[in-house]
Amino acid sequence: MREFRVQSAVLVTVVAAVLGLVTGPALAADDDGHERIVGGSRVDEGTYPWVVRLSVGCGGTLVAPQVVLTAGHCVKGSGADTSMRITGGSVDLDSSRAQTVRSTQVYRAPGYSDATKGDDWALIALDQPFDLPTVTLASDTRYDQGRFTVMGWGSTKEGSATQQRKLRAVDVDYVSDSSCDRKYGKIGMEIVGSDMICAARTGKDSCQGDSGGPLVRLDATGSWLQIGIVSWGYGCARKNFPGVYGQVSTFSHDIAVGLAVLRSRLA
Ligand code: ARG
Repeated sequence: MREFRVQSAVLVTVVAAVLGLVTGPALAADDDGHERIVGGSRVDEGTYPWVVRLSVGCGGTLVAPQVVLTAGHCVKGSGADTSMRITGGSVDLDSSRAQTVRSTQVYRAPGYSDATKGDDWALIALDQPFDLPTVTLASDTRYDQGRFTVMGWGSTKEGSATQQRKLRAVDVDYVSDSSCDRKYGKIGMEIVGSDMICAARTGKDSCQGDSGGPLVRLDATGSWLQIGIVSWGYGCARKNFPGVYGQVSTFSHDIAVGLAVLRSRLA
């Protein structure tokens, strides 16, 4: 999508401009390490070249050579942040092909809510561009259905804190908002906003540590489209509790605004 082609030249000249308010010391949600990609398998090198790993224990995607999209709950807030390392370029985090860069600025969705996980997305500007393809973001709901693939370096079962050195992926199926709502409603969680999309399949799910990473599917032209951002769930791969994802199509306009804000602050 054209809006996401942020000029690298602009972002290369990064100075520590402060982007709005730096919010409080909320911890990134993955620091205590929980569960991760469940029921999946290893990914061949180069299959999803735009997926990256954040040092805070989350995933993300390259939406521009120097900008990563992740979950809002993976970052501390908007503003200057040089504390994160972002690794891309290989499924294997320890590979010599993997490249690691640093964060410079964060733009978190203005409407992000820690309590409800509403607007669970954020953009991170990098100190150097990756020479890797960027992912295309869904801009309408056309592809918000069917079978998806979700990926990450999280652990492989609920309750395990073990990180994966190598990227794993798993296929999961669309679950309607009403069905997802009903399921979570049974345990008194009234959730699943219109900015969320659910997906599940027996024994397969994303998990903590996969947060911020992408839920993708192929479009009619055979290219990958990012549909969701790993956000939350009750346990992992539990029967009747789908994985819940930030719904990219509802954020795509705001993400473009966020990119423009980052660009202007970094220019
Ligand atoms: N909140 C988790 C994270 O921070 C993601 C949880 C996804 N859970 C699920 N059952 N799909 O990594």
